[in-house]
Amino acid sequence: MLIDGHGRTVNYLRISVTERCNFRCQYCMPEKPFSWVPRENLLSFEELFSFVRVAIDEGIEKIRITGGEPLLREDLDRFVSMIHDYKPDIDLALTTNGYLLADVAERLKDAGLRRINVSIDSLKPHVAYRIAQKDVLQKVLRGVEKSLEAGLKVKVNMVPLKGINEDEIVDVMEYAKARGMTIRYIEYMENVHAKAGLKGLSGKEILSKVKERYTIHKVGREGSSPAFNYLTDDGYKFGIIDPHKHDFCESCNRIRLTAEGFLIPCLYFDEAMSIRDAVKAGNIDEANEILREVLRNKPEKNRWDEEEGEESSRAFYETGG
Ligand code: 5AD
Ligand code: SF4
Repeated sequence: MLIDGHGRTVNYLRISVTERCNFRCQYCMPEKPFSWVPRENLLSFEELFSFVRVAIDEGIEKIRITGGEPLLREDLDRFVSMIHDYKPDIDLALTTNGYLLADVAERLKDAGLRRINVSIDSLKPHVAYRIAQKDVLQKVLRGVEKSLEAGLKVKVNMVPLKGINEDEIVDVMEYAKARGMTIRYIEYMENVHAKAGLKGLSGKEILSKVKERYTIHKVGREGSSPAFNYLTDDGYKFGIIDPHKHDFCESCNRIRLTAEGFLIPCLYFDEAMSIRDAVKAGNIDEANEILREVLRNKPEKNRWDEEEGEESSRAFYETGG
């Protein structure tokens, strides 16, 4: 079992397989970065997996593959099967923008993937275009349909933004609800890479939009999920992720691995250690030691509870949100 310096059990690993993305979402990567991590610095699936094996042996039970856009890495299903074949009962999930999903959903499911999260910020083509700065909607929706057909469990993420998609909060919920998918609204998190002047809706503001249509009841947090859940009067459960409160840090069970091999204990801090050399040298003991050290130093809470909020300098597209 993996226990961090504050007594929390860590059983959830998020792996960002690339920081590259084919969207330019205003809240994440509005402009192409000056340079990408050179391809030769990316760990191969085999190298990433050699660390994953250590992590699983030590007690990781849930793995989420993220990016950037993870489906930009060719044959991602190969990485999925490596993990699945090593431990078939692992809870294996993927976060994707959905653009390349339609053609690979079935292959991913066959490889052992169970669940996916897809971002749908709008159901209007021009608004989706405005946010992602690309004509994305049709392909994303097709990706979602194909995933459902393949038998994957799908969750929808939406980041409500002032003056952009705030009028669609209930519409996107209806879309998800009609297909048996959970929706989670994510408060916009300020960061230096995002478009200047962008304003998100607070959890409270999001909730009041939902209340215009539904009577809702509080459910609470489930397990270590950062989402606070609610139930509509007709029995639909949805969540709000509100990092400006840090009350989910107490039960945080996760660590993150980047495509370059950085092991990151908390999304909101710049601390990280690299497992790259250990993995390249096939030194499993050292990788394990680094894992333990990162856990010892995992911060107690995030930094966004302060009056002004504080901008994180690390890009979400490096760490997979
Ligand atoms: N604030 C809130 N959510 C963000 N995401 C990416 N950047 C931000 C941000 N600055 C979300 C995306 C996607 C998930 C991976 O992270 O909408 O659903
Ligand atoms: Fe790409 Fe996701 Fe960032 Fe949008 S939020 S730019 S889809 S990584």
